[in-house]
Amino acid sequence: MYRTHTCGELRKEHLGKSVTLAGWVQGIRDLGNLVFIDLRDRYGMTQLFFDKSSPLAERAKQLGREYVLQVTGFVRERSSKNPQLETGDVEMLVEKLTVLNESKTPPFTIEDVTDGGDDLRMKYRYLDLRRAVVSKNLLHRHRVAQSVREYMDGQGFADVETPFLIKSTPEGARDFVVPSRLNQGQFYALPQSPQTFKQLLMVGGFDRYYQITRCFRDEDLRADRQPEFTQIDCEMAFVEQEDVLQMFEGMVKHVFKKVRGIDLKDFPRMSYTDCLKYYGNDKPDLRFEMRLVELNNLVGGKSFKAFDEAEYVVGIVAENCSEYTRKQTDELTDWVKRPQIGSNGLVFIRCGADGSYKSSVDKYYSADDLKKIAEHCKAQVGDLILILSGGLAKTRRAAGELRLEMGTRLGLRNVEDYKPLWVLDFPLLEWDEEDKRWNAMHHPFTSWKKEDNELINTNPGAVRANAYDVVINGVELSSGSIRIHNRAQQEKMFSLLGLTEEQANYKFGFILNAFEYGAPPHGGIAFGFDRFCSIVISNLDYIRDFIAFPKNNSGRDMMLDAPSDIDARLKKELGL
Ligand code: AMO
Repeated sequence: MYRTHTCGELRKEHLGKSVTLAGWVQGIRDLGNLVFIDLRDRYGMTQLFFDKSSPLAERAKQLGREYVLQVTGFVRERSSKNPQLETGDVEMLVEKLTVLNESKTPPFTIEDVTDGGDDLRMKYRYLDLRRAVVSKNLLHRHRVAQSVREYMDGQGFADVETPFLIKSTPEGARDFVVPSRLNQGQFYALPQSPQTFKQLLMVGGFDRYYQITRCFRDEDLRADRQPEFTQIDCEMAFVEQEDVLQMFEGMVKHVFKKVRGIDLKDFPRMSYTDCLKYYGNDKPDLRFEMRLVELNNLVGGKSFKAFDEAEYVVGIVAENCSEYTRKQTDELTDWVKRPQIGSNGLVFIRCGADGSYKSSVDKYYSADDLKKIAEHCKAQVGDLILILSGGLAKTRRAAGELRLEMGTRLGLRNVEDYKPLWVLDFPLLEWDEEDKRWNAMHHPFTSWKKEDNELINTNPGAVRANAYDVVINGVELSSGSIRIHNRAQQEKMFSLLGLTEEQANYKFGFILNAFEYGAPPHGGIAFGFDRFCSIVISNLDYIRDFIAFPKNNSGRDMMLDAPSDIDARLKKELGL
C-alpha cells in the first residue's frame, strides 16, 4: 500500500499512530537542528518533522520542491499549531523516507498566490493543477456534474451519446471541420451542439434525453467563451413550454441546493421586449434595480440638439451620487465614449441635498424641467441621473452597459447574491443587415407562437418564438425552445431564412424526412455547463478556471502547442 492516509486527513485522533503518506514537497524549512517539510496532495498538506538526531534530517535537506515522497512515521502533536490548516494540530515524525520521483525546480510557485503568468501556467497546466485554488474548481465541477446527473436520472432522462463527426449544425458560429481520408475532398463538421440528433432521438421515441457533452464553435473568444465547451443538452417529447420551464428550473434549484446549500426562489419571468426596455440587453443582472427610463417625451423641444435629434433618450439613476466630482463625471463620460460603448456623450442631472436640480445642460433646461425629469425617473434627493441619447438599439445597449458599470462601481453586484430569471418571447428572426436576409434568432428548428401565425407572411420580424433562456446575474446560462415537428412548417422556416428547397433538402433532408414519420411534439434546452459551474461556484463568468485544459484567447493550447502543422504524408493522404 502506497499510503495509509492522504495529506489532508490526519487529526488529533491519529496521535501516536504509525501512518504512511505520499505526496509532493511544497516547501522545506531548514532550521539548523530541525527540518520541516510540507507534504501536499489534492486533499491538503501535512507537516513532516525531522529531528536533528535522525539520519533522515540530512537527506531531507537535500530534497527539492515538487519531489514526490513516500514517508512513514508517527503522528504527534505540533508544538506550534496552525489553525489555517485542517491538519494544523499534528505533524509526522518521519522514520522512513522514499523518494518516488525527483522534480526540476517548477517554473512558478505552486501556491494559491503564484508568480506564474497566464501563459506560463497554461504551458505547465499539469503543475497549475496542483494548486489548490485550481484543483478545487475542478472538483466543484465534478460535484455540479454529479448533481445534474442525479436530478436528470431522477426525472427519467436517459443519457445518450451523439456523434462528433457530423454534418454542419447551424448554431450561428463557424464549424470546425475534419477532412475525410476515405472520402477525399469531403469534410465532417464537429457539432456546434447535438441539436438535430436530440430531435431525432425524440422521433426515435426517447422522450427524455440528456447528455453532458462537448460542443465546438469556431468563434471569437472571450472570458465566457471557449472553442470547445460543454453543454448539458436536454430534450423532451410531449411537452409544452411550461413543462420545460418547470423541469429545468427544478434542475437549477437542485444544483444550487446540492452544491452550495442555496435555496433559490421561483424564477421571475420577463419578456425579451421588457428586458431590452428596462435593462438594455436580453440578459439582465437583477441583483440591482437601476432600470432604464425613456425620456423622449420630457426632453424634446428645448433646442438641445443632441436630444432633439435623437431617436431615443434614456436615463438611469445612480443613488446617492449627486456629489460626484467633476473628475468622476468626466471619467464616466470618457467611459461611455470608448469604442466598445460608442456613445457621443453623457448628460448629468444632480438632485442636490438642498432640493436643487443642476445639470450639465442647464443652458437648455430650467430647474423645473430637470425636476420633472427627476420625478419621472423616480430619482430622490442626493441621486445622480445619467442620460444617454442616440439611435435606439445602440443607445439602449450603451445604457445597459453603463448600468452594469455603475452597478459594479457602486458595489451592487454582490457575489453572495443569485438572481435567476427566465427570459421569454424572443423574436423568431433577426434581420441581417450585411446579407440583407433574416436569420433565426435561436436556431432554425425553433417554433413560433400560434398567435403570430398571420405575421409570418406579413411581418416576420414581429413573430415571437417559443424560446426561453435562463439568465443568472447577467449571464446567459442556457437557451432552449419548443421545436417545429412538422415538415411543412420546417420548410416554411427554411424558406424564410432564404434557403431554396434544394438547399434545404441538401443540408437538412434527414430531419425533414424524419418529420414525416410520426415526429412527436418536442422541446428542450441546453445549459452552458462551464458557465453553470463558474456561476454556481464563483458567481463569475470566467469559464477557463473551470476547465482542466482550456485554450487561450487565440484558441491555442499552450501546453500542446496546438493547432500545429501536420505530417506531410498525412496531408497527402487527406488530399489537402
Ligand atoms: P446556444 O447556442 O444558446 O443553444 O447554447 C446553449 C448555451 O451554451 C453556452 N455556450 C457557450 N459556453 C462556452 N463557450 C461557448 N463558445 C459557448 N457558446 C454557447 C451558453 C448558451 O446559453 N442547441 C441549442 C440549445 C437548444 O435549443 O436546446 C444551443 O446550442 O451558456
